[in-house]
Amino acid sequence: MNILGIETSCDETAAAIVKDGREVVSNVVYTQIPLHQPYGGVVPEVASRAHVEKIGEVVKTAMVSRVDAVAVTYGPGLSPALLVGLNAAKGLAKGLGVPLVGINHIAAHLHTPFLRTPGEPPVTVSAPEDAMPALGLAISGGHTAWIDMPEYGSYKILGQTLDDAAGEAFDKAAKLLGLGYPGGPVVDRIARDFLAAPTGDLVPFPKGRPREGVSALAGLPAELCVSFSGLKTALLRYVQREGGADALAAAGEIPRVVASYQEAIVQAVADRTRTALRRVRRRSLVVGGGVSLNSRLRAVLSEVAAEADVELLLAAPRYCGDNGAMVAGLAYYRYAAADDAMGLDVCPGLEVEE
Ligand code: KG4
Ligand code: ZN
Repeated sequence: MNILGIETSCDETAAAIVKDGREVVSNVVYTQIPLHQPYGGVVPEVASRAHVEKIGEVVKTAMVSRVDAVAVTYGPGLSPALLVGLNAAKGLAKGLGVPLVGINHIAAHLHTPFLRTPGEPPVTVSAPEDAMPALGLAISGGHTAWIDMPEYGSYKILGQTLDDAAGEAFDKAAKLLGLGYPGGPVVDRIARDFLAAPTGDLVPFPKGRPREGVSALAGLPAELCVSFSGLKTALLRYVQREGGADALAAAGEIPRVVASYQEAIVQAVADRTRTALRRVRRRSLVVGGGVSLNSRLRAVLSEVAAEADVELLLAAPRYCGDNGAMVAGLAYYRYAAADDAMGLDVCPGLEVEE
């Protein structure tokens, strides 16, 4: 079964066809990053307009074969951005006379380790149903959550960030240090070079522990939650104390600061993952989202998975960021149970639990 997946929840206009939930037939991603760069972050109206301009071309390029269904992200995400994809998907499904499946963006990220590119060795051998029960880690610019997956298609949030997502924390730090947008890739690169040949000790930034009682408000245990707002403030104070970002750059200190900041995020994520894996016996650790591209995070998570004796399932780099393949792939597993999404509205605050 071939499914066309459409994704426009944030700043990527994307469409893809996936066969039987795993084999990627086509995958087209138009990234709007250069449009948002001057603002240092995603501007919803700019995103929406660019989606409108590009969606037709992106879908047309992805439509390399006949499809049996159309799937689309309907949340969570930016409302004016989601609307463009949902409306396009409704029109297409109607025009093609095929069913429409509504997909949750976070659940779609957790499908990425299961996607396969023909002609390339698979990153993950296990099929989704064989990898269950699993612990899911969705880690992106908008989300950081530990999600229990007792069986494929069932999700329960065990812990999450109580403020900024990990990707947001990378982006804000990069902005403060004058490293541009998005911050994750540049921080990753600078930190990797520093860690390969350190020229000083890491700055002991706080490791994302939530303040007492704050996690209780979210109804989640503190030991499975992170808070990155304190880390961001600690970085700001550090930069101010050192005379500003320019002074740090002149002193050649940016790499040490960046590597220290990244390490605080990575160790916070590793620690909560370890705790979650101690609490629930799981067969695998399924990781998805833009931040799962981070080379240091990938290395540390592989140690965490080995210690806990679980299989680590990471996505191929091209499927870590937002794409249509994850939407089309998950839709195959949802297809039978899903209601026809023709009457669906966008849901910017959609939760992964149902
Ligand atoms: O999954 P994604 O494309 O969009 C959302 O759903 O949010 O994730 C984008 C986020 C951005 O915050 C970006 O800085 C971060 O992923 N990111 C990274 C890396 N590459 C992208 N963070 C850390 N290291 C990276 N290599
Ligand atoms: Zn995403």
